[in-house]
Amino acid sequence: MSHSANPSPRRFTTGAPLTGRIAVPGDKSISHRSLMFGALAVGRTTARGLLEGEDVMATAAAVRAMGAGVERADDGTWTIDGVGVGGLLQPQTALDMGNSGTSTRLLMGLVASHGITATFTGDVSLSKRPMGRVIEPLSLMGADFTASPGGRLPLTMRGAHPTVPIEYRLPVASAQVKSAVLLAGLNTPGITTVIEPVATRDHTERMLTGFGADLTVEEVDGERVIRIRGEVELKPQDIVVPGDPSSAAFFVTAALLVPGSDLIVANVGLNPTRAALFDVLRAMGGYIEELDRRDVGGEPVADLRVRHSALTGIEVDPAIAPSMIDEFPILFVAASMASGRTVTSGLDELRVKESDRLSAMAAALTAAGARIEEREDGLVIEGTGGEPISGTAGAPVTTHLDHRIAMSMAVAGLVSRDGVEIDDTSPIATSFPTFEALLTEAMA
Ligand code: S3P
Repeated sequence: MSHSANPSPRRFTTGAPLTGRIAVPGDKSISHRSLMFGALAVGRTTARGLLEGEDVMATAAAVRAMGAGVERADDGTWTIDGVGVGGLLQPQTALDMGNSGTSTRLLMGLVASHGITATFTGDVSLSKRPMGRVIEPLSLMGADFTASPGGRLPLTMRGAHPTVPIEYRLPVASAQVKSAVLLAGLNTPGITTVIEPVATRDHTERMLTGFGADLTVEEVDGERVIRIRGEVELKPQDIVVPGDPSSAAFFVTAALLVPGSDLIVANVGLNPTRAALFDVLRAMGGYIEELDRRDVGGEPVADLRVRHSALTGIEVDPAIAPSMIDEFPILFVAASMASGRTVTSGLDELRVKESDRLSAMAAALTAAGARIEEREDGLVIEGTGGEPISGTAGAPVTTHLDHRIAMSMAVAGLVSRDGVEIDDTSPIATSFPTFEALLTEAMA
């Protein structure tokens, strides 16, 4: 089964240009971390602008099951009453992670250095994803795992206390693996070190520092060396979550592609470890202007004004892939409408996301009339030069329980002759529950 229990099909077709001003919901990565770090602080953390998508709600339920108090006030502010580092309680039932890899891998890091046992379960998509990448370092620290074949969910882990501090060089560029080790390090005596040959999103480092953790980042021979001293008390924070650049990406791209569009996407987080898509789209000829650049919760933020633009194909430098790792599906849509060829490479990690995003996007865009060549580590796309793609006249495209495939193909539908039919839009609720409402608003 590759769709949800109640699939929600929908056809997306051409309509009005995208105009006016919309604001995207809170950043998913920062929202997960707000709940987890708040759960480990001593006292009450508040979070405004928290993303209320299914993935983040899975994290909320899990930290609640391990003893933290998590509440939403009527004005939308969330409060998290923490148990303190070392204070997590044994959950009484399995932790249901739904579709969320971030919840799973980061929470595994938290459990690893607490003397508790936890079982993690997830949906069909999450149950196919590799957990060996976190099991390996957390085992070195002393945690014990019984996983399903191939190091997958469902799995049961027994945390250790005390854990052993390790020095770990990341074999894959993954913020989730980095974060899992650093979070285990929070309740480990001594200094836990993570070495990142390639920089990935740095929200964990920024936010843990804000919470009072003893954490340093040093650049040595081109690598990032992150050290955390364990058993330090975390202080509660008042967090304002900036808008998610990964959600803004769909509206920015739609406005570039749909003729006549002139849209402001407000409150977009522009952390340099996240925002490379906007640079790539600009290099392709896209008009994306930053307005009112400011600082929100320790992260750079701006409103983006985006106007319909003629795009030109590009060769994307694989070195920047980690800074736009979730944005390749929507970049493939932009490239399908550009003039000339776009070449992407170095994207092996896309094969182990919520779906195999290289094969899922190659299949969906090909079905919608785009010209795509799928390679082992990327796609090569011959664009239409601005002409609409044909769209899907017959069978719907398959989202494989992947929110970003669904939203990317929805945007493709806006620039297609016959529209694009999507088999299931329900996964969109994992990260962007208001996507369809905001699209209607922008096209009104
Ligand atoms: C995330 C890290 C990335 C990203 C995911 C969120 C995070 O995963 O794809 O959507 O919040 O740390 P990887 O660490 O697997 O690259």
